[in-house]
Parts: sequence; C-alpha cells; structure tokens
Amino acid sequence: MVNLPLGYTNIHKYAQDVIAFMHEPLSVQITGGIHVNDAFIYDAWKKLPSEWTTWWESLPSPQDAQKDLINSLRIEPEARRHDLHGRPDSISRWLERIRNLSLNREQLVLSEDIPHVEVPDILASRMVTKKLAEVRAGARYINHICKTRNITRVVDIGSGQGYLSLTLAAVCGLRVLAIDGSEKQIQGSRTAAQQAGLVENDNVTHLTRFVTGTDGLGKEIALWARGERCLLTGLHACGSLSEHMIRLSTTVSCITHLAVVGCCYNHINPASTENPKGFPISSFMRTNELNLSTSALITGCQAPTNWIHNPDSIFARKHWYRAVLEKLLHDKKLVQEGNQRPVWGIRNGDLKSFTAYTSRALSSLKLKIGKDVTEQEIAEYEERYKHRVAETAVLWTLSVLLCRVVESVIALDRLFYLQEAGMEEVDVLPIFDYKESPRNLMIVASKKESNGTGR
Ligand SMILES: C[S@@+](CC[C@H](N)C(=O)[O-])C[C@H]1O[C@@H](n2cnc3c(N)ncnc32)[C@H](O)[C@@H]1O
Repeated sequence: MVNLPLGYTNIHKYAQDVIAFMHEPLSVQITGGIHVNDAFIYDAWKKLPSEWTTWWESLPSPQDAQKDLINSLRIEPEARRHDLHGRPDSISRWLERIRNLSLNREQLVLSEDIPHVEVPDILASRMVTKKLAEVRAGARYINHICKTRNITRVVDIGSGQGYLSLTLAAVCGLRVLAIDGSEKQIQGSRTAAQQAGLVENDNVTHLTRFVTGTDGLGKEIALWARGERCLLTGLHACGSLSEHMIRLSTTVSCITHLAVVGCCYNHINPASTENPKGFPISSFMRTNELNLSTSALITGCQAPTNWIHNPDSIFARKHWYRAVLEKLLHDKKLVQEGNQRPVWGIRNGDLKSFTAYTSRALSSLKLKIGKDVTEQEIAEYEERYKHRVAETAVLWTLSVLLCRVVESVIALDRLFYLQEAGMEEVDVLPIFDYKESPRNLMIVASKKESNGTGR
C-alpha cells in the first residue's frame, strides 16, 4: 500500500489535490509559466502575492529568503526551528501545503532478515560511492523479490555499464538480460562481465537496443526467458523509457514483476496527436486533465535541499544576468519568438561581470556590440536592473520548490497506469537515500497470477 502523505487515506483524493495544486496560477507561473529568464519581460515579481514580495524585499539579503524557502522543504520537525522569524502566515501555509502534498522520500528500511548484497571488489571498484550505494540497495530489494517469488531472470533496461546487472548475475545467481541503447555502454558492461568471470549468454546476455516503445522487444525478452519468470528493472531509466518499461511489464507475460526507478523527467514525451501514448499515461490523470508543461517536468529533476549553499558563488548572479539580457534583447527586438537559439557557451570567466556575460552571449547569437547593441545600452540595463537582483534569486528558488510535488505527480501517474492495467502490489518505494540519490522513487508491481502460485 502506498505510503501517502499525512492526512490522506485515499490515493485518488490525494492525487486530485495534487493536480489541483499544480493547476493553481501560482504553481503554473513558477514551474515555467513565466521562466526566470523572462522575469523582467513579463514582470514576474509583480504577479506574485504582494504580501510575499514585500516581505522578501524587506530581508537583508536574497540569500535569507532562498535559504528559508529551501529549508521549508525539510519535513523533520526540527527544521521548523530554522523558519525565518516574521514570515507571513500565507507563505508558511503555502509551504506547508507543498510538504503535505509530496510523497515520502525517507529511505525504505528493509527488514534485517532480508540478506544484504555484497558487491565484489572487482565490480565495486568501477563504481562511485553513490552508484555503489544504489546498486547495493537496488540489488538487495530485487534479489529478495526474486528469491521469494520464484523468479530466476532479470531484464535490466538502460543497464549502462552493467553495475546492477552484473551484481545480480555475479552475487545473486540470477540470469540477466542487460539492454542499453548505447553500444559504448554495452561494450563497457561486456568487458566488466568478462573481468568478473561472467559468461556471456549464460550468466548475462547483452543487447544493444534503443527502446522507443514496446514493439518487438517483448518477443525478444520472451525468447530469452525460455518460459521462466522475469523481473523487469531499470535504475534511473531516463524520461519516457520508464513508461515503456511500465507498459512492457503489463503486456509481456513472462515479466511477472517490475521495479523501476525513473530520472531525467525533462526527456518525458508529452501526449499529443502525433504521440498519443505520451505523458500522462494513466486514464486517471487524463480524465482529471492533468496538464504539466515540459518546464514543470524539469522541476521534478531538482533537489534543492541537496544544494551546497554558497552565497558568494558567481553562479548566484547568473539568473539576474540572463534576465536582464533577455529584457534587453526583447526590447530591441533582437530575438525572434520561437526561434531555435545556439548554445551560448557561457564559461565561468564570463560570469565575472554583466558586460563579460553579455559579450559572450551576443557573440554566440552572432550579434555585434557597437552595431546591434551599444556598450552604453549594456551599461544602462545593468544600472536600471541592479536593484532587482533579489527578484531573480527568489524567483529561481521558487521555480524549483515544487520539485517533490512534481515528482509525486509523475510517480502517481505511473502507479495508476499499472493499477488500471490490473497489476497488483503496486507501490512506490523510496529505495535510495534521498540525500545521496534524490531520484529515489522505485515503482514496483507484480502481475496477477491466475493460479495464485509464486507470489
Ligand atoms: C542514467 S543511465 C543509468 C545506467 C544504469 N542503469 C545505472 O544505474 O548505472 C541511463 C542509461 O539508459 C540508457 N538509455 C536511455 N534511454 C534509453 C532508451 N530509450 N533505450 C535504451 N537505453 C536507454 C542510456 O544509454 C544510459 O546508459
């Protein structure tokens, strides 16, 4: 049963409240309705509640507001002790709603009866600490499901360098089909498998395949499985890949269990006439007319509580530079709406001053200082907006504040799809430590079995 936020007992009621919250004008504005880059063009600051902006303007520095907002995402009661004194109640209530609408992210503690998976040195030495922790936690859970449900095979899609695949094959004795769209990743995994003494096409089978849907792949998986039961997994299956895997788990009969962790929500393809199977995938979200823009989905990739706070960082000014420059380009009609822009290639050195930043951006846009924009105009815009640095700082923080609510919506959509397809034991488990691995929500499910065995 899904661990719902405090105060909720009905998942559909919870989902409806989340959708309603995401559709509120304030949520739409801060998750991309007005991008921070366009803050001065559309006067984003003035569109926020005036009680809030007045208070933020009264603080000695924008960093105080930023720290307070980010701290507000923490759910531990002691975190409330650090709430800024004098904060208007209306802000506090709104922040509380964000907390109350987010799925729990505290790492799942498995019972000590469940065996740990010790990754052999030959495999562990290839992994960074974060990856090793993810593989240990993921493999432990997957191995437990496999051993208790009579599953002998695992299909790992988006297997990358094979960190999880090879651990499951080498330590847990599972037969693994490792699938990845990148030949380079598959080659790396093959080499590591050899070094670990794993036999290709026995312990592990590698397949280079970029998955864009379910067509054809189900048959290949069934052929490889030889009638044995499989668990389908993927650690950090990017964008819509998680959705393809969810569909595969419901349609391929040898796949009896699913355990997938998503990431890179910016790569999710939204539903459209050309892509009717796009996001959202569940009937529930579609019936309730969930509408999240790509910018809102990008918000789901953020984890501001993990940011290292450095008020002196030159990056702190980046958003202000960009917003002032966008205003200048807009006022001078130098950039056409909707035109694809080249990458600006801003380097750290360009962040030292607004002039340096502007010079780099203009040259990337093939615009000339002296001809398209004068040095005097650049200086004038810097002067005109210099007292509004705090606006972009706070707007940027607001733009990532709904990260966990957005991620909850994505998880709920996937969950509902699986339930609607008749899957059982559908759940969302915070499998990793959020502080190390913020994309820590594993969607799990099992297929209903007609004879009731093996579960
Ligand atoms: C974030 S990495 C995760 C790799 C691995 N699961 C891990 O945890 O180390 C995502 C992997 O998925 C692969 N990938 C992304 N989209 C894919 C697709 N549509 N089909 C197949 N592989 C894909 C990438 O090549 C990459 O190796």
